[in-house]
Amino acid sequence: MRIDVLTIFPQMFDVPFSFGIFKRAIDQNLVSINVHNIRDYTHDRHHTVDDYPYGGGSGMVFKPEPIFEAVESVKTQVDREPGAAEPPIILLTPQGRLFHQQIAVELSKHRHLIFICGHYEGIDERVVEHLVTDEISIGDYVLTGGELPALVVIDAVIRLLPGVLGSEHSAQEDSYTNGLLEYPQYTRPADFQGWSVPEVLLSGDHAQIARWRREQVIRRTLERRPDLIKKTKLGREEEQLVEKFTASDKTKSSSSKEPEE
Ligand code: ADE
Repeated sequence: MRIDVLTIFPQMFDVPFSFGIFKRAIDQNLVSINVHNIRDYTHDRHHTVDDYPYGGGSGMVFKPEPIFEAVESVKTQVDREPGAAEPPIILLTPQGRLFHQQIAVELSKHRHLIFICGHYEGIDERVVEHLVTDEISIGDYVLTGGELPALVVIDAVIRLLPGVLGSEHSAQEDSYTNGLLEYPQYTRPADFQGWSVPEVLLSGDHAQIARWRREQVIRRTLERRPDLIKKTKLGREEEQLVEKFTASDKTKSSSSKEPEE
């Protein structure tokens, strides 16, 4: 996969891509990441990328010309096979669709992605209307720019590419890949400051361990993200576990109620 990022702060991408799984994926040519400074596509002495908003108001707005030019330049750098799909041009913005695992999966299927990191009060709407093909938000909060959101999305996408996670990890077992949260994990020591690892995990009984983990997945998701239970297609055993835990919760809450006067 090829990824191009357009930003006014290219250095923000130096460190994250120099470590661990990102670095290995780049070294093994599983992905190439090209970061471009939007200022390099300006033609005035001050390398101006922003201007006052028409109609007044606070803050500055990203000008359209350097962004259009940067995207054009990126596209000419890539040999696209005849008939191959155009790359998505993704603007990171709080106004975009809310990012989640399925979007990461969808993006991971493309050969080329272009990200535009917004700043200031916004970006000239003509960029959004006539250049950008997708707008993504990483959550309902406002950050100072699109760089961190771009890194979040790129991280989630890269780890899904074939060969990026070693055999010791598996994106298949992720939280959210199957729509539910993960079971708790433990490592040595078996006893830490008096807190011990659940007995079943030390038992060596793989069937019991698998069952305990399936139970934990349901219990946790019910407790923390019941919305995910509603959205996910569950198997028969999972449905039964949901019923079991929901019923035991009801019993607990009714027995803990103060007796009525
Ligand atoms: N830029 C500023 N805030 C953002 C957010 N929450 N998601 C994506 N891009 C942003």
